[in-house]
Amino acid sequence: MSLQNGHLAPDTTLDSPAAAGMALQAQGLTLTYVTPRATTYAVREVTLSINERDFAGIVGPSGSGKSSLLYLLAGLKTATSGTVFLGDFDYSHASATERLDFRRQHFGFVFQQPFLVPYLNVLENVLVPIENPDTTHKQRALELLDRLGVVDLAPKFPNECSGGERVRVATARGIVHRPTYLFVDEPTASLDTATGARVMKTLQSQCDHGALIVVTHDLEILDEADMVFRMRDGALVESFQPQRLTA
Ligand SMILES: Nc1ncnc2c1ncn2[C@@H]1O[C@H](COP(=O)(O)OP(=O)(O)O)[C@@H](O)[C@H]1O
Ligand SMILES: [Mg+2]
Repeated sequence: MSLQNGHLAPDTTLDSPAAAGMALQAQGLTLTYVTPRATTYAVREVTLSINERDFAGIVGPSGSGKSSLLYLLAGLKTATSGTVFLGDFDYSHASATERLDFRRQHFGFVFQQPFLVPYLNVLENVLVPIENPDTTHKQRALELLDRLGVVDLAPKFPNECSGGERVRVATARGIVHRPTYLFVDEPTASLDTATGARVMKTLQSQCDHGALIVVTHDLEILDEADMVFRMRDGALVESFQPQRLTA
């Protein structure tokens, strides 16, 4: 990765689509919210690149555009201008159906609100991203719940779980199908430090097979990130590799 005018420019080796693999590259991404009273630039001209196995962080104060940028990168919001490429696929200009198929196949999400399905038990909720789960998938789901300290909740329903437990169930659901890209918004916001560390460790196991992108206001949980992008007022103002406290 290289830095140009404070922005990350794509690697020259990524110019050829064949060499690009599944790198995610955003170019001039902008998102404005227009209301009768004001136009807000939630994201301004963001250019960055994240490689297939990277653990990337996005930090910045509240309202700086972190969630909006994450949603643009994940194709859940449509940019006002700019593009997002995944490998050689222009994801930002694909049809809604193409995007949906692509998202199902390649993406995982952990939203700030856990959004579990109320009539499915915890194990069934974790298995939602998998079309026809078999015993291997169930085994993986239970292992993830175990790593997150909530395996005993497998037969319970979301309304029997605490807020922090639901976040952990949603974390297992985001990662269970081994997505190519896992997008996570404020994973530790409602957790104590020890549980937060456990969630981060589980999320980071994603990088064995794919990329992890975590939005947070807490730089400490990005200690092991390959790259951190800092946002202010919608713009990407800095990108850096964190000092590893545990190097
Ligand atoms: N649906 C919306 N309508 C209008 N403004 C919005 C909307 N969502 C977010 N914003 C504004 O966009 C800016 C960035 O918001 P957001 O991406 O949620 O920031 P962060 O995740 O860093 O807190 C803020 O000024 C926020 O008020
Ligand atoms: Mg946010």
